[in-house]
Amino acid sequence: MEALKKLANEAGVKIEYSSSNSFQQLYFNFYKEIHKEYMEKLFDEKIALDYLFSRGFSEEEIKEYEFGFSPINSKIPQKIAQKLDIKSLKKFGFSTHDQFEGRLIIPIKNEYSNVIAFGGRLLGEGQPKYLNSYETDFFKKSKTLFLLDIAKDKIKTADFAIICEGYFDAIAFHRADFKNAVATLGTSFTKFHAFSIKKLTQNVILAFDTDSAGIKAALQSIKILISMQFNVMVAGKTKEKDPDEIYKTQGSSGLYSFLKEAIPAEEFIPYVLSKNYDLNNSNAIPLYTREIKNWEKIFENFPEKLETFRKTAEKISKTSITVSVPKPKQKTNLPTLDEMVIYLLLNNPQVDIEINPKIFNELTQEFIKSLKNLKNFSFEKLSKDLQKYIENILNKMEKFEINEDYINTVKKKIEEKTLEKRIEEIDKYLNSATEEEKRVLLQTRMELVRKLKKLGR
Ligand code: UTP
Ligand code: MN
Repeated sequence: MEALKKLANEAGVKIEYSSSNSFQQLYFNFYKEIHKEYMEKLFDEKIALDYLFSRGFSEEEIKEYEFGFSPINSKIPQKIAQKLDIKSLKKFGFSTHDQFEGRLIIPIKNEYSNVIAFGGRLLGEGQPKYLNSYETDFFKKSKTLFLLDIAKDKIKTADFAIICEGYFDAIAFHRADFKNAVATLGTSFTKFHAFSIKKLTQNVILAFDTDSAGIKAALQSIKILISMQFNVMVAGKTKEKDPDEIYKTQGSSGLYSFLKEAIPAEEFIPYVLSKNYDLNNSNAIPLYTREIKNWEKIFENFPEKLETFRKTAEKISKTSITVSVPKPKQKTNLPTLDEMVIYLLLNNPQVDIEINPKIFNELTQEFIKSLKNLKNFSFEKLSKDLQKYIENILNKMEKFEINEDYINTVKKKIEEKTLEKRIEEIDKYLNSATEEEKRVLLQTRMELVRKLKKLGR
């Protein structure tokens, strides 16, 4: 829709909207109006303005980043809702009160610069430091990158993206004129995030916090990024805790050296892993080597990266790591629904998904049956074929993280497959059906196909 609008505008064509996207229009309007109010309030209340000054923002920058403030008891979202005739704010990411009251407001935009949510920061110490709007049809944290609307052109021209963890870290890069920086929103980096960057470049620098949580997040992101064929660099050489602090103490040149010192992920991993071991103790070396071996898999389709990875690990541990022949490059081997479900059930047997055994292959059905009796479940009791089947799945799926997106994907696929199965059954039956039955069946079939289309097929 946004692309259409933009093109129509460039071509001088006027487009009329049908009612089907009026909710979206209303949503964007709602956020635009609240944002306007919040921005006005910022300049009425010294406290929020002073907070930004204390973080080194000039008045110009405050306007540029469109910060706002939600005064206590101002009920701005509720008032705007009334004005726009919105009855319930549930689908708009708010409840009956304004969760941002007393907080600094940071607008969160989609890649077309529509405000779709807010982040709210406490003006002092306390918990939680940040709040976001609740997720909505137009705001999913797992798919949103802060400042992407501004960054996307720059990422293209610079041919690399800087990825950070915090609002103020991305803003710090922008202030330092690295406008190709984006931030996640307090959730881990997902393949959806990676997809939206992939359209722009295949090179990223991770500029995460330098604490252990930041390192863990970096390792997790690297897995996703490498599997999607990115070249990944990791910045981390600094005493400061995050890019925002670097900017505060050393300005643009501090951030520049920070980026310049970044090392490739294939060197970063052996290096950070080595910190968990005392490699002067010869007993620790096999443990380190084993961990390195586990990580090798992520580079299996990238021989050059794999070589650097091994060489770095060898240099660090001063031992040679036996070389296994890398597997031949394979086509991206996407997991099947059966595999995804089994992996999910293994990790979380109680997960709340509706399982219709009919849509799965025999081994999967066998597995689902044996899971039903959870108390007596044991891997050894499964048939040899099933054990082998599961082992293969575990190997293949290891790279996948089970999170809300994963579960939603499984749910959606189950829905699709169930519909497909029903269509298949109808088709089988159609030949032998009477005229009257045919009429009913075809109608049902059409309904099913429509549902399937709605699911995005
Ligand atoms: P940090 O705790 O690293 O904060 O959280 P920060 O970015 O350095 O914040 P400042 O500089 O103190 O203002 C990183 C990111 O995690 C999310 C936010 O998106 C934040 O930018 N977060 C953090 C939350 O969503 N809620 C929280 O309570 C804390
Ligand atoms: Mn910070």
